[in-house]
Amino acid sequence: MASEERPEIDPLLRNRWSTRLFDPTHELADAELGRLLEAARWSPSAGNSQPWAFLVARRGDAAHQTFVTTLSRGNVSWVPQASAVLVSLYRAGDDEDPALTFSDYAQYDLGQSVAHLTVQAESMGLAVHQFAGFNHDDVASMFSVPPAFKVTTGIAIGRWADPAVIAADEGLVEREQRPRVRKEIGEFVFAGEFGVPIELA
Ligand SMILES: Cc1cc2nc3c(=O)[nH]c(=O)nc-3n(C[C@H](O)[C@H](O)[C@H](O)COP(=O)(O)O)c2cc1C
Repeated sequence: MASEERPEIDPLLRNRWSTRLFDPTHELADAELGRLLEAARWSPSAGNSQPWAFLVARRGDAAHQTFVTTLSRGNVSWVPQASAVLVSLYRAGDDEDPALTFSDYAQYDLGQSVAHLTVQAESMGLAVHQFAGFNHDDVASMFSVPPAFKVTTGIAIGRWADPAVIAADEGLVEREQRPRVRKEIGEFVFAGEFGVPIELA
């Protein structure tokens, strides 16, 4: 199916992408951060367990300086330019006994709350890029994360920067221009039994 024949989706979803070109001068206002977190807060979760937690680091503050030391080689070239990074965590265990599972759906719920935040950001003209490439153990220890919580992803938030305007790394610009691809719906949606691709008129 050519892209122009694809089913129409909301522009908030269609226009989102994970940029690596963040404006290094943009600052995220408290009110903006508050709205993003409010969107995450209103996400559904199993039994309303709300197992998510977030650490906040904003470019220029001590938490940010600490966090960027944990970035993988692939992410250190672009994450520090974002206005803020949230580290997402989910409650995996009980406070008294971290080995006791808190909820079988805690990771699912965390992912969904971040999806809410991402759509809210898009509606505000902000860019979000989630990433896993950082040292999770170092973050847990540097930020005193209790054993019941698992460090999961980083969420870079900021404003997209036009590479013609900022001094952008050539490699980052090239990656930005690569086509975005997805599986076809029939590869992951089945009708009748697993493996039988759905057919839509
Ligand atoms: C859990 C998770 C981990 C990711 N880790 C990284 C990462 O370490 N570095 C990176 O550049 N992008 C990372 N990404 C971004 C994905 O590569 C990106 O979402 C995917 O290629 C689809 O591109 P799009 O978001 O522009 O549609 C991650 C995304 C998710 C959800």
